[in-house]
Amino acid sequence: MTKPITKSLVDDLIARAGRREILFGTMGLGYVGLPLAVELAHAGYRVLGFDVNTGVVEGLNQGRSHVKDVTEAQLREAMGCGRFSATTDMSRLSEPDAISICVPTPLSKFKDPDVSYIVAATEAVKKQLRRGQAIVLESTTYPGTTREIMLPALESTGLKVGQDFFLAFSPERVDPGNPTYGTRNTPKVVGGITEDCRRVAVALYQPAIDTLVPVSTTEAAELVKLLENTFRSVNIGLVNEMAIVCDKLGVDVWEVIEAAATKPFGFMKFLPGPGLGGHCIPIDPHYLAWKMRGLNYKTRFIDLAGELNTEMPMFWVRKLVEALNSRAKAVRGASVLVLGVAYKRDIDDIRESPALDIIRLLEGQGARVTYFDPHVPRFREDGQEFRSVQLTPEVVAAADCVMIVTDHRAIDFKMVKQKAQLVVDTRNAIPREA
Ligand SMILES: NC(=O)c1ccc[n+]([C@@H]2O[C@H](COP(=O)([O-])OP(=O)(O)OC[C@H]3O[C@@H](n4cnc5c(N)ncnc54)[C@H](O)[C@@H]3O)[C@@H](O)[C@H]2O)c1
Repeated sequence: MTKPITKSLVDDLIARAGRREILFGTMGLGYVGLPLAVELAHAGYRVLGFDVNTGVVEGLNQGRSHVKDVTEAQLREAMGCGRFSATTDMSRLSEPDAISICVPTPLSKFKDPDVSYIVAATEAVKKQLRRGQAIVLESTTYPGTTREIMLPALESTGLKVGQDFFLAFSPERVDPGNPTYGTRNTPKVVGGITEDCRRVAVALYQPAIDTLVPVSTTEAAELVKLLENTFRSVNIGLVNEMAIVCDKLGVDVWEVIEAAATKPFGFMKFLPGPGLGGHCIPIDPHYLAWKMRGLNYKTRFIDLAGELNTEMPMFWVRKLVEALNSRAKAVRGASVLVLGVAYKRDIDDIRESPALDIIRLLEGQGARVTYFDPHVPRFREDGQEFRSVQLTPEVVAAADCVMIVTDHRAIDFKMVKQKAQLVVDTRNAIPREA
């Protein structure tokens, strides 16, 4: 008896997705959830965004975007036609037909996965779960989270997955600040707990995403994201080690990499730098390493890349000390101007940014540190408030050393080269500009 009813539920959701007669809920309206919500609204869905942060919700409902990749014009367009609004009222989670969960997945103090946000979001969904809803987790996490944490919680309501409700995992791949690839044109991987779960999730995303990539299980989908970010972490670790090797050999690492990249096959270009940052690459591989520790397997590549990348701020601070020394200057008392504190070019995100380690290390050695970042006017770290200086020729010339940490396009590196007494360039920004 249940089978035909289930089929009609599946077919009904798929048909309504085709007609955009779905109310989509997005939980967590940050770097990932907000661009997704706006793209779903743009595709013709009505979208109700949920967030626990009152300030975020109030700002959005007043048309203010706190995420750089979503312009206020895009937000207003979605709101103007009544297709997007936000709420903190979790009792409204019964309203959407589909809910995408995009909550944070940080690490605990001991670098273990902190899935407490996923647990809290699942509990909130569970309280309102009704027949016919599709739930998709998008947060990056270890393989097994959807089946081991979310499924039992949601089925404790008495509703059955694949029959009464649908559960899938679809990793978010957003690359903040990327002018070419956004939510719509980045292919999206989807794995369901059952085949119908996957079919429903694929159909729901189809109007908003150009290419969908179905995989057989939620575990496969969870692992896809971890493979992608581990691949980046390991390759960045490799070129960072190559930077240290080249430094010892007196060879220009960037010249070596650019020349290697002329090989039209079998080589992929990664660039060295001050270390990893952001909410993904420094964190995600630890989710996999933790899971594998529980299965008595040590993920050696992940651990080694983590070590190498974490040591890069120290490497660059050592370079700065040597550079000052070559001018008969001590780091203690020296004025150092750090250019860029965001973890990568043209964005305003300082989470896990290596600039924070560099500033802490320099201050620890007695340097007087100031910074300029056109995207980060101020920030707070360890209770200390930092404010960006203005980048003028006088400010550059006054510093004993300028350290380039983030190669934002808005920085006039030609002027920096002309005016600075000494430059330590972790990104090779000066030769590129010159
Ligand atoms: N930022 C990226 O570049 C990126 C890229 C791909 C994947 N991811 C992954 O996406 C997930 C979200 O990352 P983000 O960068 O958008 O985080 P974020 O911190 O920018 O946003 C998360 C939002 O979730 C809200 N939130 C927390 N708990 C909630 C709850 N119980 N219910 C509703 N809302 C809640 C927070 O208030 C916040 O606004 C993470 O798993 C991350 O690893 C991030």
